[in-house]
Amino acid sequence: MNLVLFSKRLLWGIYILKLIYEEVCCEQVPCAARSYGQSSVICVCNATYCDTVEPESRLTQGYANMFISTLAGQRLEKSVINFTQQPSKTAQVTLEVKPQIMYQTMLGFGGAFTDATGINILTLSLPAQYHLIQSYFGRSGLEYTLGRIPMASCDFSTHTYSYDDNPGDLDLVNFSLTMEDIKYKIPIIQKAQSVNRQKILLFGSPWSAPAWMKTNQNMTGYGTLIGNPGGPYYKAWAKYFVRFLEEYRKHNITLWGLTAQNEPTDGYIHNFPFQAMGWYPDQQKDFIALDLGPALKAGGFSDVRLMILDDTRLNLPYWAEKVFSQESSASMYVSGIAVHWYEDFIAPTLSLDVTHKEYPDKFILATEACITSNFPSKVSLGNWENAEKYTHSIIEDARHWVTGWSDWNMALDMEGGPNWVNNFVDSPVIVNAKADEFYKQPMFYAMGHFSKFIIPGSQRIEMPQVTSLEGFESIAFQRPDGSLAVVILNRGTSPVLTAIHDPVVGYLTQTVPPRSLITFTWWR
Ligand SMILES: *[C@@H]1O[C@H](CO)[C@@H](O)[C@H](O)[C@H]1NC(C)=O
Ligand SMILES: *[C@@H]1O[C@H](CO)[C@@H](O)[C@H](O)[C@H]1NC(C)=O
Ligand SMILES: *[C@@H]1O[C@H](CO)[C@@H](O)[C@H](O)[C@H]1NC(C)=O
Ligand SMILES: *[C@@H]1O[C@H](CO)[C@@H](O)[C@H](O)[C@H]1NC(C)=O
Ligand SMILES: *[C@@H]1O[C@H](CO)[C@@H](O)[C@H](O)[C@H]1NC(C)=O
Repeated sequence: MNLVLFSKRLLWGIYILKLIYEEVCCEQVPCAARSYGQSSVICVCNATYCDTVEPESRLTQGYANMFISTLAGQRLEKSVINFTQQPSKTAQVTLEVKPQIMYQTMLGFGGAFTDATGINILTLSLPAQYHLIQSYFGRSGLEYTLGRIPMASCDFSTHTYSYDDNPGDLDLVNFSLTMEDIKYKIPIIQKAQSVNRQKILLFGSPWSAPAWMKTNQNMTGYGTLIGNPGGPYYKAWAKYFVRFLEEYRKHNITLWGLTAQNEPTDGYIHNFPFQAMGWYPDQQKDFIALDLGPALKAGGFSDVRLMILDDTRLNLPYWAEKVFSQESSASMYVSGIAVHWYEDFIAPTLSLDVTHKEYPDKFILATEACITSNFPSKVSLGNWENAEKYTHSIIEDARHWVTGWSDWNMALDMEGGPNWVNNFVDSPVIVNAKADEFYKQPMFYAMGHFSKFIIPGSQRIEMPQVTSLEGFESIAFQRPDGSLAVVILNRGTSPVLTAIHDPVVGYLTQTVPPRSLITFTWWR
């Protein structure tokens, strides 16, 4: 082992010891706030300083943990409050928790290990990298439990590449992972796993097959696989998934899931600017039934959860109805339906409800979201509205059968990249390499209000939505140990004196400040 590698391992070891120490002590390290002129602030982390979240306390009955984030600058600040037996006479709203009425079981919350995520993390000094990974995955951080891995390149890469750019190599004898996996994805995933006390459910998604497998001989633009399902190119493409799973397994990374294609509708858009491959739902159905399903089974990967769609819910329930049609065996290979948030404003939640009703044994998972609309620059440092958009989407999705929510890039640069087609967007963590700093945006804490508390295996429970107050949203869950968690979002400009009524414990009365986000947890 050379000296550099040895010192890196030593530093990492010391860092793990520090984490263990923090776990058995610790008070919250507060946000080092900085304003960039937006509605709220970002929290600055560097090599020597990074804010943390104080762990939940295991409270006796009658008390609740409360974690609050506000436009005014609080970030997952913890306190303990108590229940009362009588309702407060002045409460403006009462939220009735009904744990006997249960809905879907949650898989988790997370983000994507894109090339851009890895590239940005690696521009930081080693101690700052540790803080970033800890912030997302550690005990004193958000404890993410979902991770999406682009299979080869996407727009958040520095160039286009596949795992087999050898025209005609239908047997994939020259299939190999690239420098990007070895440098930007695998080590980051391994570090994330090493600080996480929960298992991270990892799932892969391809953007495009190698250009030579496609009708347009290009990873971008309008095109699909050559030939028909059951044909040689479809067989090769199915094998590509198996080879990907095998190669990651060689690095001790076991994938939990796969989506059959990222945004299959993009590849049927003329001149689509970045990596994409077009699929119609019938085509995806036949590919899964004839090629991908059998290939995964033969490769020993039948336990890998296969998801269809991986595109906006505007395509539902139509897409699911096609893929799961009775005449085909596709359905038996498929575990879930993946959705992206980008057209939610024109696609009613009814599409999710109908899909769940028709296919109750297929989970629905939100697999990509990001803020694309900031103006004038794509990165908006300290923007509170973006945190509200994330929270609103998570609550809305989870109220309509969605079992988890995975964000897009976990770390971008000050411009919102790198992205080889300049399709810059925002991210919950922005890295400023020059200053060796990274910035936790309000969106980061919005994710934490769910990921840290709504742990995998939690079940959504009934708590009717209050419709009388504009911008006031809420949701309740029961966690695997029987404790309850409630998240409230107040997008309004007035404080709301809120009572949460748990028939077993009593009334929890709390003023929910304007423009705030609160998570409550309690045992009964
Ligand atoms: C890191 O952040 C802390 C807290 O904001 C600050 O006191 C310290 O000077 C920073 N270190 C560097 C090298 O900028
Ligand atoms: C419980 O909370 C109420 C206000 O909600 C407060 O008046 C009371 O003193 C608290 N009781 C205890 C035991 O902390
Ligand atoms: C695999 O790669 C080797 C070395 O580049 C090349 O000689 C060979 O033709 C390739 N095979 C296929 C089937 O692409
Ligand atoms: C793929 O399409 C892009 C965009 O039209 C074009 O610039 C590029 O040259 C094409 N690549 C190949 C290998 O044809
Ligand atoms: C994978 O894990 C095994 C057992 O823990 C270990 O022996 C092996 O070196 C690991 N391989 C890699 C590539 O990390």
